[in-house]
Amino acid sequence: MTTLALITDATSLDDDYDMPPLRDACQALALDVRICNWDDPDQDWSRFSHVVLRSPWDYTRRPDAFLDWCAHVSKVSRLVNPLPAVRWSLDKHYLADLARAGVAVIPSTFIESKASAQTMLDAFLQAHPGLDELVVKPTVGASSRNVRRFLRADAMQALQHAETLLDAGHSVILQPYLASIERQGETDLVYINGIYSHAIRKAALLARDGTTNAPTLGFLSACEATATERALASAALQAASRTLGLDAPLLYARVDLIHADDGQPQLLELEILEPSLSFPLAEGSAMRFAQALAGLK
Ligand SMILES: Nc1ncnc2c1ncn2[C@@H]1O[C@H](COP(=O)(O)OP(=O)(O)O)[C@@H](O)[C@H]1O
Ligand SMILES: [Mg+2]
Repeated sequence: MTTLALITDATSLDDDYDMPPLRDACQALALDVRICNWDDPDQDWSRFSHVVLRSPWDYTRRPDAFLDWCAHVSKVSRLVNPLPAVRWSLDKHYLADLARAGVAVIPSTFIESKASAQTMLDAFLQAHPGLDELVVKPTVGASSRNVRRFLRADAMQALQHAETLLDAGHSVILQPYLASIERQGETDLVYINGIYSHAIRKAALLARDGTTNAPTLGFLSACEATATERALASAALQAASRTLGLDAPLLYARVDLIHADDGQPQLLELEILEPSLSFPLAEGSAMRFAQALAGLK
């Protein structure tokens, strides 16, 4: 019998706007589900047939403990999405794998040490001579935390932010700031069991004054993904599937895209760990997800 744990954490459940419609849809299908904190020491995970990651968003503060927990759960139950997908996608170095596989990823330069930070930043700016603004972000992160945008003229500040992240033990990514996001937003495409479900337009989160917004519902609206966006999302999912050696589609995935100056979409993120799926904005989507849960083997 399917007994499901829907995983959150003590501080994130209130922000998880997908959980109420998902819980209702599961109830309507008479699924046996329980909402649990991933770090609950009293939980016996073996009593669940499947443990489904939904909003354990505080893992970014202690990713090693979270991965250890995922590994434990994978031994005594079935983790959804599976452990290899979780491990690989927790760290945005996966973007380099996808770029190597031919996916149109936002050009990304990775900085691994403070000693190389200045050189990497100089090389990045040289490689993008016409660029007015750049983005500096940690490779492990969520909810835009520590993602910042800088003017080229403020490259010293960009370097300082990178160094602060490196000091805190992060690797760092430099990307061109894709300004189309201010006109068109970011497009997030949601897939359930490998099938396109719906898409969301997410307004720009990095303000001109350097402040960063979390992706709360007010920044989101329903939209339809274009054929070009869907083609890129499929290519990213297929490349991920090949890289991970998966033999079945992932139960859930969100593919986030921004358009480059030439109008073509580029991959911002492939969210296969714990993405918000914007169920409140897409009629029927929570039920499609619950039906996918009901079909878990
Ligand atoms: N290269 C970029 N160009 C424009 N905006 C960006 C870029 N990178 C990140 N952003 C903005 O910052 C937000 C958070 O960045 P993202 O890479 O999605 O990290 P997180 O994992 O924290 O969501 C995005 O939703 C987008 O608004
Ligand atoms: Mg994001």
